[in-house]
Amino acid sequence: MAGDGYRVGVVGATGLVGTTILELLADRGFPAAEVVPFASARSAGRELEWNGATIVCRELSEESIQGLDIVLSSAGGAISAEWTPRLVEAGAVVVDNTSHWRMHDDVPLVVAEVNPEALDGHHGIVANPNCSTMQMVVALKPLFDEAGIERLVVSTYQAVSGTGKAAIDELMGQAAAVLRGQPVPEPAIYPRQIAFNVLAQAGSFPAGDDHTDEERKLINETRKILGDQSIRVSATCVRVPVVSGHSEAVNVETSRPLSPERARELLAAAPGVTVVDDPAAGLYPMAIDAAGKDDVFVGRIRRDPGNEQALDLWVVSDNLRKGAATNTVQLAEALVERGLLNR
Ligand SMILES: NC(=O)c1ccc[n+]([C@@H]2O[C@H](COP(=O)([O-])OP(=O)(O)OC[C@H]3O[C@@H](n4cnc5c(N)ncnc54)[C@H](OP(=O)(O)O)[C@@H]3O)[C@@H](O)[C@H]2O)c1
Repeated sequence: MAGDGYRVGVVGATGLVGTTILELLADRGFPAAEVVPFASARSAGRELEWNGATIVCRELSEESIQGLDIVLSSAGGAISAEWTPRLVEAGAVVVDNTSHWRMHDDVPLVVAEVNPEALDGHHGIVANPNCSTMQMVVALKPLFDEAGIERLVVSTYQAVSGTGKAAIDELMGQAAAVLRGQPVPEPAIYPRQIAFNVLAQAGSFPAGDDHTDEERKLINETRKILGDQSIRVSATCVRVPVVSGHSEAVNVETSRPLSPERARELLAAAPGVTVVDDPAAGLYPMAIDAAGKDDVFVGRIRRDPGNEQALDLWVVSDNLRKGAATNTVQLAEALVERGLLNR
């Protein structure tokens, strides 16, 4: 701890998630004495504005990582695999946004509104869930507590910002070409054209698997966070030409009866959830409304006509906020509140 606050490292500080983390640390008044931004060698020396001051990007090195109390990391799985143990060794607690550590048994996978108590058992690394899992479990938690969950059937409609800055550029470049009647540039980030299209593939297919890694994350992370390995999950993750905000159609089969009215009541009272559910008036959650907000928005709450013990929900959230940066900063705050940093 430096001065009267913490020394906070932000790894991937120039990326979409890292930029949002910096913004939230300032907006939410995280008790930081100093914020140290890390990015690739390409960005070393680049000046960023933080909370009215100029901070300068550094490369990760044995010297540059010393003396940090907490590190909020979002620079990709390979970088996390290499540098997170070194950051922990140097004394920091790391909240990691990549998929690398999430399913490790000794790494808690935590959503602030769902299982904050899991932080207490950390060994230096805390994992932030995948964006599509995050928003879904915030909406499921009050229903799970009331009625249990037997099975989920989930279809996602995921925004391109979930893939990082280069994916937004790819969508914009292709869309501009289509609108100008020019040849569409070859895709580089996605396997097929994303502009004016829908891809039945979010993530990639690991060898020998007929599900994408994104679908496997949704299945495995949901069970770990809710602490119930018996929940059956069917997932189809789809990429759509939306810049910000993932949408999800979620069919929830509960263990005990649960009416749509009671579900609406539980969701309206749940932390981090806003119910928007007046479809006849054209009111339901939309990605463009969720953009820049921290809540998870839930609507279209209704009985599944094919299953008396299932409900259908439409769940939308800003993937860069609650799906990534907001939860990361909430976990940093919770680590401070619970006295779980190494001091
Ligand atoms: N986007 C989302 O909705 C979302 C949600 C949850 C989790 N995540 C995860 O968060 C991570 C970052 O996502 P993003 O969307 O922010 O990606 P992004 O916009 O592409 O940013 C990547 C960041 O990583 C930095 N970086 C690259 N190589 C590095 C290195 N060798 N050392 C240090 N920093 C390095 C980049 O720095 P330069 O600017 O110098 O290249 C940049 O700051 C990914 O693992 C992603 O899976 C993303």
